[in-house]
Amino acid sequence: MANNSEQQDVASLTAEQAKAEFLTLEARLQAADLAYHQADAPEISDAEYDSLKRRYRALAQAHPELEAVATQLDSVGAPAASGFGKISHAIRMLSLGNAFEDEDVADFDRSIRKYLGFGSGDSLAFTAEPKIDGLSLSLRYEHGKLIQAATRGDGSIGENVTANAMTIADIPHQLDGAPDVLEVRGEVYMSHEDFEALNARHTERGGKTFANPRNAAAGSLRQLDAEITRARPLRFFAYSWGELSEALAETQMDAIERLRGLGFQTNPLTRLCASVAEIISHYRSIEEQRATLGYDIDGVVYKVNDLALQGRLGFRSTTPRWAIAHKFPAELAWTRLEAIDIQVGRTGALSPVARLTPVTVGGVVVSNATLHNEDYILGRDSKGEEIRGGKDIRIGDWVQIYRAGDVIPKVADVDLSKRPDGAEPFAFPHTCPECSSPAVREEGDAIRRCSGGMICPAQAVERLKHFVSRAAFDIEGLGAKQVEQFHTDGWIKEPADIFDLQSNYGSGLQQLKNREGWGEKSADNLFAAIEEKRTIPLAKLIFALGMRHAGEVAGRDLALHYRDWTAMADAIDTARPAALAHRAADEAEEAERLKAADEGRRAKISDTRAAAVAVCEVPADAAAAWSDLVGVDGIGAVLGLSLSDAFSNPEERAAIDRLIGKLTIVAPDAPAADSPVAGKTVVFTGTLEKMTRAEAKARAEALGAKVSGSVSKKTDILVAGPGAGSKAKKAAELGIQTLDEDGWLELIAEA
Ligand code: IVH
Repeated sequence: MANNSEQQDVASLTAEQAKAEFLTLEARLQAADLAYHQADAPEISDAEYDSLKRRYRALAQAHPELEAVATQLDSVGAPAASGFGKISHAIRMLSLGNAFEDEDVADFDRSIRKYLGFGSGDSLAFTAEPKIDGLSLSLRYEHGKLIQAATRGDGSIGENVTANAMTIADIPHQLDGAPDVLEVRGEVYMSHEDFEALNARHTERGGKTFANPRNAAAGSLRQLDAEITRARPLRFFAYSWGELSEALAETQMDAIERLRGLGFQTNPLTRLCASVAEIISHYRSIEEQRATLGYDIDGVVYKVNDLALQGRLGFRSTTPRWAIAHKFPAELAWTRLEAIDIQVGRTGALSPVARLTPVTVGGVVVSNATLHNEDYILGRDSKGEEIRGGKDIRIGDWVQIYRAGDVIPKVADVDLSKRPDGAEPFAFPHTCPECSSPAVREEGDAIRRCSGGMICPAQAVERLKHFVSRAAFDIEGLGAKQVEQFHTDGWIKEPADIFDLQSNYGSGLQQLKNREGWGEKSADNLFAAIEEKRTIPLAKLIFALGMRHAGEVAGRDLALHYRDWTAMADAIDTARPAALAHRAADEAEEAERLKAADEGRRAKISDTRAAAVAVCEVPADAAAAWSDLVGVDGIGAVLGLSLSDAFSNPEERAAIDRLIGKLTIVAPDAPAADSPVAGKTVVFTGTLEKMTRAEAKARAEALGAKVSGSVSKKTDILVAGPGAGSKAKKAAELGIQTLDEDGWLELIAEA
């Protein structure tokens, strides 16, 4: 227990002061624990340890927000081998989009200009710097003091590696003249020389060696014993930042310069480039120096230099719009194709996988590669045109493997001169290898799919894996491996069964705690983790269902639009006749086009569509629900049809309904109450002159508005630029508030 005077003292600290001290204490306690329990080399006396712990507890007691995140309160000894504390990043650590060809870089420049509404004559400068092949780390400084270091983890939550980071010579513990809150981000890496020496030392001692410097750096940083990290020669380049109490500079280049001034290592090959041509020329120069740099890089990163523009450009779901990684060309190698296996995915897609005689490609041993689909094996692309000069791929062939960064290896080419005698063309199966249902290929689809749906065990298992994946239900202790096992044993056949696991296997004859690999504690933990996820945000639920084309972004868009499960399900059900009419019209249109092409005339598509829709006699409420559904920005007819099919498939719907009955579904956060457009449905039409469409949409959504593509009774505001046509007319008829661009900007300026 903390004594009274200590309690008074900690209570008088501001929340910020308390947090800073608390996190420092946490890191020191953690380091002391590790030194004591794992390295058997205590660093501080017992008395000093006790006094640190007392102070730590007192801070936690006085500041409940700290207690909630404390990792050292009841800790006995060092955390479990799997256990670094978790740290939630105040600002997510994102990854980068990739460019492979010069043309992709030109597209990057073009798309930024388009987003910003810049002409080709407007200047747009970029920084270009090596992409370090290590692992990213976020360092948090408060009042100049390093208080926390976290790995990227899944981007939102990383591992607390503070004690380890403190052993890296390139990472300053104290900064002079830094903002009060400064999160510095960069890459931990190991030089070639240090890597060779480390492996040599390990070989001498008969220990394991690392495959490459990146693995060595990751393995060294993620040591539970920080003293082991200290003995490893890790380095750090700073290239970015997270939370800041004040801006570092106005440009990327100046911000990097500021970090350098504060004592960080920044990459000396960072350049300011005024054009795509300059960028590419710097890329070539870095590529030429690559072999002699002394550390691994896998490309060059380009960032928009002006930080205000970076702010306007913002982020997609996992990558910034203002930066891109231009990767070095892929690595190639030749090997033998031993077999072609067919895997069945979540949506029934049959994917051919090449089983290869293992070969090293760019430092990594490759024994599997993707063959995409049946056309790819035959030597044709999705349009039926020849690839690889029309050469097909056969079992026994000598094939070229291509690997680019983290991209799944591909079979790129075939050496016909080495084809074994008697090699037969590959016969792609027309039945599912898992459930023997027919595998069908729809018109215009490159993929053959198992038609078994829920009866196909492969689809069921893949759906369950998707259901528990990180971006979906993310149930601690229930990963792909466990789900697969439970499915094999018949304990979990569909998502709803997860929520009955405790009632079915918590007691009685068959009990989870009696299974191999499970004990009382782990079983209880799993039941608790499942209970916790019984309450789930609507967007995650939609994504977790794994319906075709319904990814994370669609889940969010649908959740924001309908806000409620029942409302969404009712709308999709109501829209069914219109969805079917849409499909019939698509099919009629395709048939008419083919017939017309045969007869050498032009098809009158609009007539055909109209006729097909007329035959279907769509009720008005169905037509309205359908146009509302496909009018949700980012949804469209393909996804609309997929949702409609999933909801009207009786087995699938029953499984969904069983699941819904077990959940509490949380509506998306109520839009910020202080935003004048929160919760309003806004439609943009006509030409916008001060911002691009994409920017307007992103800003409106950030302020809690829903942006729709079409005007309906639900529309609250129409923003009409010059040239607005039918939408403005319809809005006027419906008496909807209409603003010009300036009016809109004025309205949101108050936010
Ligand atoms: S900027 C918001 N700059 O590459 C974007 N990343 O593929 C922040 N990386 O996760 C990243 N060198 O770990 C940036 N000069 C550099 C980099 C770099 C290596 C890593 C980083 C990131 C990954 C994305």
